[in-house]
Amino acid sequence: MIITIANQKGGVGKTTTAVTLAHGLAIQGKDTLLLDLDPQGQCASALGLVQEPGVFNLLVGVQTLANVTRTTGRPRLALIPGNKRTATAQVVLNAEEFKLDIIRQLLRPALPGGLNLVIIDTAPSVGRLQEAALFAADLVIIPTTVDYLATEGVVKVIHTVNALVKRQNWRGSVLGILPTFYDNVTRESQQTLDDLQRTFGAELILPPVHRATVLRECGAEGKTIWEKAASSRPAKEYADLVWRVADYLPT
Ligand SMILES: Nc1ncnc2c1ncn2[C@@H]1O[C@H](COP(=O)(O)OP(=O)(O)OP(=O)(O)O)[C@@H](O)[C@H]1O
Ligand SMILES: [Mg+2]
Repeated sequence: MIITIANQKGGVGKTTTAVTLAHGLAIQGKDTLLLDLDPQGQCASALGLVQEPGVFNLLVGVQTLANVTRTTGRPRLALIPGNKRTATAQVVLNAEEFKLDIIRQLLRPALPGGLNLVIIDTAPSVGRLQEAALFAADLVIIPTTVDYLATEGVVKVIHTVNALVKRQNWRGSVLGILPTFYDNVTRESQQTLDDLQRTFGAELILPPVHRATVLRECGAEGKTIWEKAASSRPAKEYADLVWRVADYLPT
């Protein structure tokens, strides 16, 4: 099972969601691999690990999946770290007109019998690599902030996904849109949530994750919310997402 976290809008909680979900599922006993396709390389930092050109080496074919996969010091959670060279890989691949199924092909050795789990974090940009990350996915999660411009970013991901269904016969599905940085106090949050439900259907909108300073601290300290504040509100909110995803997985 491959789960891609995507939104071309920056700073909407993609990396936080990818890292939190990956570690949450590992804690639930699932062997989980986190793949960082963003040249910012923040998955490694969020786990307190060093950035490396792992994704670059994998994409350009100079190292195998096993060679670029790192342990994280957390049971059942592995990481393929990235860094700014991921952007170079994208340029190289574009020049070679790579196939859209490149990510799934590269990950094949990690998915024996389809039982293992890969979470892909993506960059806040549009491009063929982002498209390939969506194409690889069995499930897509779209985090979004709840401000007035939020819907726009979500619409673009949904358009890309619909085009993949139509033109490439993509067989994945969108698990949902995850409202992040939610704030009960502002009208903007509530109004945007209503807008999202009206535009995309209430069934596609996941329960929101509130704005929480502790999530920012986690990122800065290289700890996941399960390590830093397991009984906090954001931990409970992300636990809901972990259970939803776990429902899709073979037991
Ligand atoms: N619910 C939240 N409340 C408060 N801060 C948050 C929340 N979610 C994430 N953050 C913080 O906001 C910043 C942006 O989050 P994150 O890096 O997850 O977004 P992103 O979509 O991956 O960004 P980019 O598009 O640059 O990759 C980080 O410092 C993160 O720790
Ligand atoms: Mg990110």
